[in-house]
Amino acid sequence: MKPRHLVTLRDLSSAEFRTLIARAIELKARKETYEPLKNKVLGMVFEKSSTRTRVSFEVGMAQFGGSSIFLSPRDTQLGRGEPIEDSARVLSRMVDCIMLRTHSHRTVEIFAEYSRVPVINGLTDRFHPCQLLADMQTYFEYRGDIAGKTVAWIGDGNNMCQTYVHAAELLDFQLRIACPPGYEPETDLIEAAGKRVEVGPDVRTAVVGADLVVTDVWASMGQESEQTERTGAFRSYQVNAALMALAHPDALFMHCLPAHRGEEVSAEVLEGPQSVVWDEAENRLHAQKALLEFLLTA
Ligand code: CP
Ligand code: NVA
Repeated sequence: MKPRHLVTLRDLSSAEFRTLIARAIELKARKETYEPLKNKVLGMVFEKSSTRTRVSFEVGMAQFGGSSIFLSPRDTQLGRGEPIEDSARVLSRMVDCIMLRTHSHRTVEIFAEYSRVPVINGLTDRFHPCQLLADMQTYFEYRGDIAGKTVAWIGDGNNMCQTYVHAAELLDFQLRIACPPGYEPETDLIEAAGKRVEVGPDVRTAVVGADLVVTDVWASMGQESEQTERTGAFRSYQVNAALMALAHPDALFMHCLPAHRGEEVSAEVLEGPQSVVWDEAENRLHAQKALLEFLLTA
């Protein structure tokens, strides 16, 4: 039987997504020892840097009684051109689950195709599903179900933005995306989402009355050479107090982190009362544990 993967959020049904959120909230409250993954090993391949993703998976595996191996392309044959198909077949005969953070989304798709064990996308150039598990858990904890609510995405139509598109489809919320022209998410993705997702250049239109305001860096990992050009294009896309004032008075602010104060978000908003970014970061751990349990014990 083919294993279950989390390559994108679309690998989950709406019901499974909601179950994972509820389970993450339960696991967060649980204080007694619980080791459903005793002797299980997670392999983690990182082509790019990470703090939250790496630590949440490592700690999650340790708390569940298992362990993890950090694999950098710099010190493995992956970095010397061993085919992805071969690496997937070899690794998946030894470990119980594989998490990958790669530049190309295709790498994770190929890995999943050839793996005998569940493969988890820990961020690619197109999607970041694990972050959305934590973001949605955080919203549910603060405000209850997000169905019917309005989320404003401000800034780059990047991997995080595109994962919000999937989340809007699965959890049935309205998503208003404000991007500078030329930085919109993929057209096919937006078309597939239908009326739930609107894309335009105007930040104010996106934020008015929104229940959740989200942003991310202007230049993602791998786009460092575009930093200057992007800083120019995104200048008027900062989430600051004046912009947050247009949202619903109860609106929350989220950012997957790391954040650049004074660029995509003002320090005042990031540190302000509407910001839930530290809970959002902590929830990476609880969401990861719910996901590992779901993929490895179901
Ligand atoms: N938000 C997130 O994925 O953080 P890291 O890059 O630190 O893993
Ligand atoms: N969009 C960012 C997210 C980092 C967690 C990046 O890809 O670098």
